[in-house]
Amino acid sequence: MAKKKPGRKDELLKILLYPLDWLEERSGLVGGVRYFLFRKVPGDISWGHTLGSASLTAFIVQAVTGVILAMYYKPHPDTAYESIRHITDDLWAGWLVRGMHRWGASVFIILMFLHMGRVFLYGAYKYPRELNWIIGFILLILGMFEGFTGYLLPYDQTAYWATVVGMNITANGPFVGTLLGQIMQGGPAIGQDTLSRFYSLHMLVAPGLIFALIGLHLYLVIRLGVSSPPWSKEAAGADYVEPEPEPPARAGLVAPTTRGRPTP
Ligand code: HEM
Repeated sequence: MAKKKPGRKDELLKILLYPLDWLEERSGLVGGVRYFLFRKVPGDISWGHTLGSASLTAFIVQAVTGVILAMYYKPHPDTAYESIRHITDDLWAGWLVRGMHRWGASVFIILMFLHMGRVFLYGAYKYPRELNWIIGFILLILGMFEGFTGYLLPYDQTAYWATVVGMNITANGPFVGTLLGQIMQGGPAIGQDTLSRFYSLHMLVAPGLIFALIGLHLYLVIRLGVSSPPWSKEAAGADYVEPEPEPPARAGLVAPTTRGRPTP
């Protein structure tokens, strides 16, 4: 039979997919993303299982809005407040980007807590997922640290005094408290050095760590698979069908067939 000539639609599709094919051939990345998006998950998972992805979405929103804010923010005690006012009042959609970042911080932490609650209630922290629980816990601490360091950046009265309270709590902690307080403050009082430190921790160190740990977290989710709810009949083997037992082979003068059954 004659081979069908490729139509214009096929040609166009080929051209459009060429960059993806190029990338796949050289890195295997496209296959990896496809595997992640279309992997099999248990049939009886629920909306509770979307909270991890919701936390991921909130983090991405924080990262994108944070990058935009960093283009206009000036981390100095004399200019910080004015630059935030400029973003909010003068720039096009500046109020929206700042609002998304400010409210998004709370949304991110609330979603992480809800996700953690789902994992706890479903017992999904147990073997073999203990390591992913520990990584998740570090992510939660880092998320809250982001909130603390970001709070100082507008450098208004609320920011300043809230940071004084946070610093005093840290400095009164046992063993390493005093040292941690000194490192974070960067001088005898909260000032330029504190602001620079907080800015660096807030926009480089903590997001970098969160990004890397999310990668590890998701790798483990893919490797171990998502767990079913504890009441899952599917996981308890309700769908399991016992294979029919083979009839016993007759001993004696019989010619065995290839399947090991006696000839009739
Ligand atoms: C940046 C924050 C986080 C992101 C982006 C994230 C993302 C995800 C995603 C996408 C999943 C798979 C779907 C699901 O079960 O929801 C997952 C599963 C999991 N997460 Fe997180 N997570 C975060 C924080 C946490 C926290 C705070 C904990 C606990 C302390 C945690 C522990 C776990 C565990 C144990 C699983 C496996 C659950 C299962 O197999 O059913 N995660 N995470």
